Amino acid sequence: MAPLRVVITGGAGQIAYSLIPLIARGLVFGPDVKVDLRLLDIPPAANALAGVAMEVQDSLFSTALEGVLATTNEVEAFTGAQVAILLGGFPRRPGMERWDLIGKNAGIMKRMGELLETYASPNCKVVVVANPAQTNCYILSIYAPSLPRKNITSLSRLDHDRMIGMLLHEANSRLISDSAADGSECVRRLTAADVRGACIWGNHSNSQVPDVSAVEFFVDGRWVPIESVIPDRTWLGLSNSLPGGGNIGVGPEESLVEAVRKRGAAVLAARKLSSAMSAANAIAEHLSDWLSPEKSGHSPAVSMGVTTDGNPFGVSEGIFSSLPVRCTIGGDWNYDEGFSMTDDVRRHLEASVVELEEEKATALKMLEKAEAAAGSV
Ligand code: NAI
Repeated sequence: MAPLRVVITGGAGQIAYSLIPLIARGLVFGPDVKVDLRLLDIPPAANALAGVAMEVQDSLFSTALEGVLATTNEVEAFTGAQVAILLGGFPRRPGMERWDLIGKNAGIMKRMGELLETYASPNCKVVVVANPAQTNCYILSIYAPSLPRKNITSLSRLDHDRMIGMLLHEANSRLISDSAADGSECVRRLTAADVRGACIWGNHSNSQVPDVSAVEFFVDGRWVPIESVIPDRTWLGLSNSLPGGGNIGVGPEESLVEAVRKRGAAVLAARKLSSAMSAANAIAEHLSDWLSPEKSGHSPAVSMGVTTDGNPFGVSEGIFSSLPVRCTIGGDWNYDEGFSMTDDVRRHLEASVVELEEEKATALKMLEKAEAAAGSV
């Protein structure tokens, strides 16, 4: 079988450095799929990129890696790409407005869209990680009009996994302390496979809506509602925040919802570097659930940034948003119609959608401005 051609932009960056070994060890596309890896970065990063290529060679990866090409030539990198992992973007600099950042990255995504349209495989599967990830997907979809919209996704799996990690931490400490208190046998620790029903809705920003209202844990051989393991409704953000109540709320500053939203900043503050390892792991999970022959069609519902066109949740069309999906065999996905939104989730999601629509309008305006300036030279 011909190797799978995969392009990673931002190949000399932090996330790529953690992601390449996962791909090269067969943990992303499956152990039997050989990968022909193309690492792209910009010319100022050429030396760093060459260093990464030396390390790949020194690591003797042979399980899944057929070959690796490190290049600053965009056409060479994108030609024939069957999977594109878009990490390359303009970082936020001190004093830079959020809207300037959106404009800069819209220009980069326009170029990526043109490259996908012209040089990649017509069925190329894309995951956008560079921020603003969902709005970048929208820009790509305009400049790669032949690519099916369902092939363009963005990463919200890191937020999803952060939420599950926090739930597991809390659930396990409660189960262990309960079993110690009643003198019962050592309790089985729950793992990610023992959690279902979690979802991140909306933008990959502070307006995202982490939703645990339908979460269940697999305890003692059966699925039980979240509150039977973690009864703290305030921490979960499940305390009544609307008249009539019973709905998820954003909750107080120290709630799970706020902790998920601020986790990236917390890692940055602690490490003085961004959360590259967990981001790389989340990209690996996103891609393997979607595309690997072993996992696609067998995974539970996951959060992915996808087109809102035709969604069953009532989210405005014409943007990309994090929504619950199920990946199906053969590299496709469907919205998970089993999820329904509580009134409070819908209210918070509406605010996130307004933000996504503003980002889209800003990105389009900045691209128009750049095109007008280029035309007047
Ligand atoms: P980084 O700054 O270490 O690496 C980015 C790389 O992209 C650099 O090597 C840079 O030279 C390269 N680059 C810039 N413009 C390019 C272009 N036009 N073509 C090809 N390469 C280009 O950043 P890191 O930590 O690897 O993060 C990558 C992106 O992922 C950032 O935008 C970050 O905000 C985003 N991110 C998104 C997350 C999500 O959950 N959606 C989570 C974590 C990070």
